[in-house]
Amino acid sequence: MVFPEYRPRRLRRNKQLRSLIRETRLSPEQFIYPLFVLPGKGIRDQVSSMPGVFRLSVDQLAKEAKELIGLGINHVILFGLPEKKDSMGSGAHAKDGIIQKAIKELKNKVPELMVTTDVCLCEYTSHGHCGVLINKMVDNDATLDILGQVALSHAVAGADIVAPSDMMDGRVAEIRGILDENNFDQIPIMAYAVKYASAFYGPFRDAAACAPQEGDRQGYQMDPANAREAMREATLDVDEGADILMVKPAVAYLDIISRLRDEFDLPIAAYHVSGEYAMIKAAAANGWIDGERVMAETLLSIHRAGADIIITYGAKEVAKMLQG
Ligand code: PBG
Repeated sequence: MVFPEYRPRRLRRNKQLRSLIRETRLSPEQFIYPLFVLPGKGIRDQVSSMPGVFRLSVDQLAKEAKELIGLGINHVILFGLPEKKDSMGSGAHAKDGIIQKAIKELKNKVPELMVTTDVCLCEYTSHGHCGVLINKMVDNDATLDILGQVALSHAVAGADIVAPSDMMDGRVAEIRGILDENNFDQIPIMAYAVKYASAFYGPFRDAAACAPQEGDRQGYQMDPANAREAMREATLDVDEGADILMVKPAVAYLDIISRLRDEFDLPIAAYHVSGEYAMIKAAAANGWIDGERVMAETLLSIHRAGADIIITYGAKEVAKMLQG
């Protein structure tokens, strides 16, 4: 059937018709909101390159968590700034480390909020790399054992999901093994399966103070040019026991999200990263775009591409929009 018999505009005539045939919907239940936690008391420090995003001390977390629950957002992912860094990133698995304290505080005060943790060393190493250095190279196998300790320490503190973001080979199997040995077989692993060596992480590295002192992350994160390799990375993580597959960044990699969606039946998450958020905020601050609508349209595109779960700094503002 073609024009004039067929007229697609018939179904766009009014709001009710448009919403009847809408294929994709955003809901705050799909969102995971990142929180940055830092030492001290009474601190609520705005990240300059990420307007609306604050670094909070542990005592400020419960208030933030209650606001999120009020907006229908049930999940956070935590990032920590430790008091001290060292070459082995030992603050990442310290019993009284910043993340371990943050998890306990949140699970005590707002138990219904689900806490995911980022399992990585970069915020805790003095050199800023995601693994330990041997002869100036990030050593894969020496890092695995430490990552296992980090994941276990998060589970012991009460984390609901662990999310390894380091991109070492074999880390999902390592973490699954150590969690299972310690009776944490119920804790899911959300693997940063496909994480690119991206320039979009800039504002995050300011917020979390984790830029590498020397070199870059191209020796472990993926080349932005590669799509077939993303399928191999995801297959490995599935075989090693991942429960959720993540693609990161999101908007510049919608094709990858879509390919993973077609290829795998596990839940897919996408991380709408700091640079992607900051660009929208910067253009909106200049009055060049309608920031709220662009944020919502962006998250919709990520969902439409195939992501079930969206990790985003825009979660609160879009949740407010959805509430009307
Ligand atoms: C590493 C990690 C990074 C992000 C999340 N986990 C930084 C990196 O790989 O350099 C980036 C998130 C963002 O840019 O919002 N622990």
